[in-house]
Amino acid sequence: MAISLWLPGPMAVTDLAAALAEANLSSPMLPENRGDPYRIYRFIREREPVHHAPDGSWVLTRYDHSAALLRDPRFSTNPALLTEGPDVDAMSPVRQVGSSLMMFLDPPDHTRLRSLVSQAFTPRMVESLRPRIQSLVDELLDAVVETGEMDVLEDFAYPLPTVVICELLGVPAEDRHQFKAWSADASRLLDGYLDKAALDKGMVAGMYLFQYFTDLVHERRKEPRNDLLSAMLAAEDDGERLSHAELLSTATLLFIAGFETTMNLVGNGTLALLRNPDQLARLRDDRSLIRTGVEELLRYDGPVHVTARIATQDVQIGGEMVREGEQAVAILGAANRDPDQFPDPDRLDVARTPNRHLGFGGGPHFCLGAALARMEGQIAFDTMLRRLPDLELATTEPTYRDHYVIRGLDELRVRFTPGPSGPIAAQPAEAPPAGGRKAT
Ligand code: HEM
Repeated sequence: MAISLWLPGPMAVTDLAAALAEANLSSPMLPENRGDPYRIYRFIREREPVHHAPDGSWVLTRYDHSAALLRDPRFSTNPALLTEGPDVDAMSPVRQVGSSLMMFLDPPDHTRLRSLVSQAFTPRMVESLRPRIQSLVDELLDAVVETGEMDVLEDFAYPLPTVVICELLGVPAEDRHQFKAWSADASRLLDGYLDKAALDKGMVAGMYLFQYFTDLVHERRKEPRNDLLSAMLAAEDDGERLSHAELLSTATLLFIAGFETTMNLVGNGTLALLRNPDQLARLRDDRSLIRTGVEELLRYDGPVHVTARIATQDVQIGGEMVREGEQAVAILGAANRDPDQFPDPDRLDVARTPNRHLGFGGGPHFCLGAALARMEGQIAFDTMLRRLPDLELATTEPTYRDHYVIRGLDELRVRFTPGPSGPIAAQPAEAPPAGGRKAT
């Protein structure tokens, strides 16, 4: 979704911009603020929780405003309705590519498409992946456990969801290496304002991905297999099937959404735990906390920081009037640190309950892959913490990727006490032994 906070160029002089400058702060979108955008979010939330940005967008940093926005049927996700705000012409290539993506459709088209895809992507199907995800996690850790060090992103967080989504969709193993750059470039289109080079790269990557899935759909149509693509081809609702364009855009969306996000849940979450060793020890020593622990990592430093909606009529938010055709941007990362919703919001608490974070969005567009992402996250953290003793950071200042909407690290080097390879007698995270720490 296109967003348009404060451009990384000169800021228009608004009261908020002046106040930020006076406090020695600047736009949370700027690369130098990637490490900690949260103090800037707090500053903005306390001063102007519904901020009218220089480009006409409304920027929401309170939890209640964002949660209500995501459920409000007076708002759309269709970028074609945008008449105010971000430079509409600059966004047009993205709008063309995105027009058949589920995340940009409104009811009833969205309801129809989502229900057809959900017939193939069922909770039972997701649950059936549990043993494979566990063995994959063990394989990835086997490859590093004797060395005493790894890059969490490269060695673990990236390959895990990539292999899972490729196997799920039925992408052959030999084709997987092509996808990393395509997906990283295409997902940058979500950032909205991009320079021409980044925009071109994103569009080219999107075209490669579309072409790849066009060929794969063609093959599965001729010869169905036991994979999600074939199941989507077969899904039928009241005599309706997915059109070719819908199938293609959904496969591409699931593919990118399937690992760009989960990868950063594992990366950002590992960094958060390493910076809060008491919480790391708690999670490692009490496996019954794995569910609340992963929810807390999604809240505390989740991978998706922003989503947006466009008003289909004039709507009041927090005393401000958002006009028809204007964009309201929910800063999920800010909502998830709102003290009115989460006591002591800047504290990582792996046992936090309740924890109704907005890390997966909300309303009709609530993340379709949440169950899969949660399972991958739970198995990844549970196994990593048990198998890599004395895990510690091997870098002082991890750097962030040049993405804003999808927040994640370039790399995360860690050290640990080397141990024996070979899968431990893996206990699924689903059924932990009471308070037990798994012996390796
Ligand atoms: C930790 C991992 C993940 C996070 C944090 C995440 C987060 C999100 C967010 C914030 C949205 C937008 C919701 C809104 O605007 O209200 C979304 C939508 C979506 N996500 Fe995820 N996601 C994750 C993993 C996945 C996975 C693994 C898949 C699929 C395999 C997936 C598929 C989707 C799809 C298809 C949508 C669009 C849903 C719609 O428009 O109805 N996501 N996700």
